[in-house]
Amino acid sequence: MMTATEIRQSFLDFFREKQHTVVPSASLMPQSPGLLFTNAGMNQFVPYFLGVWTPPWTPARATDTQKCIRAGGKHNDLEDVGYDSYHHTFFEMLGNWSFGDYFKKEAIRWAWELVVERWGFPAERLYATVYAPDKSKGDPGEFDQEAWDYWAELFRSRGLDPDVQIVHGNVKDNFWMMGETGPCGPCSELHVDLTPEGDTKGSLVNKDSDQCIEIWNLVFIQYNAESDGSMRNLPACHVDTGMGFERACSIMQCTDGFKDFSRKPSNYATDVFRPLFDRLEVLSGRKYADVYPAPGSKKVGAQDDSLQEAIAFRVIADHLRTLSFSIADGILPGNNGRNYVLRRILRRAVRYGRRLGFTQPFLAELVDTLVESFGQVFPELAARASTVKEVLNREEASFNETLDRGLELFDAETASAGKVSGEFAFKLYDTYGFPIDLTALLAEERGLEIDMDGFNRLMDEQRERARAARKSEVVRALDLKTDAVTEFTGYDVDECAATVLEVSRQGDSLFIITDKTPFYAEMGGQVSDAGLIEIGGTATM
Ligand code: ALA
Repeated sequence: MMTATEIRQSFLDFFREKQHTVVPSASLMPQSPGLLFTNAGMNQFVPYFLGVWTPPWTPARATDTQKCIRAGGKHNDLEDVGYDSYHHTFFEMLGNWSFGDYFKKEAIRWAWELVVERWGFPAERLYATVYAPDKSKGDPGEFDQEAWDYWAELFRSRGLDPDVQIVHGNVKDNFWMMGETGPCGPCSELHVDLTPEGDTKGSLVNKDSDQCIEIWNLVFIQYNAESDGSMRNLPACHVDTGMGFERACSIMQCTDGFKDFSRKPSNYATDVFRPLFDRLEVLSGRKYADVYPAPGSKKVGAQDDSLQEAIAFRVIADHLRTLSFSIADGILPGNNGRNYVLRRILRRAVRYGRRLGFTQPFLAELVDTLVESFGQVFPELAARASTVKEVLNREEASFNETLDRGLELFDAETASAGKVSGEFAFKLYDTYGFPIDLTALLAEERGLEIDMDGFNRLMDEQRERARAARKSEVVRALDLKTDAVTEFTGYDVDECAATVLEVSRQGDSLFIITDKTPFYAEMGGQVSDAGLIEIGGTATM
């Protein structure tokens, strides 16, 4: 049976044999505007698809494993993490790309060759989906007959009926977009039947079932989605594929190399997660055991006490990966945008840590284990491990201080009110730093209703107040006369040491001019950054 490291290497070696250049993963900090995090292997290749850059590889092909985060934004799996066995906030996407070089025929044949012929996936358990637009709903393009024909030939070669093994999907399932804009096109996915009998005849494809999961998406990039909603034809056709690395590992490892389908595959039962669980077991003195949703349900129950520790192990391991890889790529927990998503994730991890008895910072204690497993593939993680630990410790310590008080308050309030009002959820957010999904989680665990509309209304009002305040500050800032020139470092770093050049007080505001700053100023319609200045060890807003 192959280890995770061998599976990753086998994928990259296969495409190297097909004349692809192996390239490093891009940073989790997205290069494309409009994304919170790098969310797909293709993000770093957008300029090649658009024809803006010429690919430097001959032939024009590449392969890699890409660090991806899907938490917030168009692709968001946060709520499923831990409660099912195959969604994560952080995962690796294995991919192969053609930039105006090969197209559907090779992409499909090679996918088959790797999965069926080299790795040994049973062909009768595989289902390929192809794009069939629903014209009544205005789906773009035509039925993908070409992809259907290539898959049909391969299934027939194994004596299988293409009408059973090939499933049609409309724009919802078989048209891939990275966000609201950008390169996109019809796609064809491979799904695997994981039922013990393996005889579902495609009935579970795209039904959100952990008994039939997608492992590989082949996207045939042909259009660019424009900001006005139209689809522009690209100058050339490209291939963009993405295989869920942890899913591939789970199917290959949990079935003991396809010999035994009686045990349900789970990404958490692989050597991707096992070392983290081993370490967590030592730190917490608790044991991890695999858990599965009850038959007929998609997720493990949030209110089932006997499963809470296992869910906590999973959430913590998932979130630790997201946090560590992000911090190593210079994305720190903070108050806005992607930084706030990270802060929410960290606070969730701390809260789940309580279920395992952690009341002091513990996440940093897992970082060395992560580096042992992934430091060779992602050297930036090994190089920045000490920064990762420092940031985790600092953030956790500061949240731990308010968590207990907030939890006490939550219990007192809900004992009398029996529900969570919008006002109370907002107070927890505003005063105790409880991200709304943490409050929602507490409510769910206790079977309480939460007034999300009320919360969102108060959030909107607060944003409006902040906007108004910022406007008046800008006017005041313009009164400040200074010759100091500040270097902006924020494209590369989120924090830096700087020298104070001038300090000036105007009304209740203090203006501090430094020689360098990672904080973006409010210019050109952009929202300015907010953060901390630390002077002599004391943090100031
Ligand atoms: N870009 C495609 C995806 O993320 C491969 O599914």
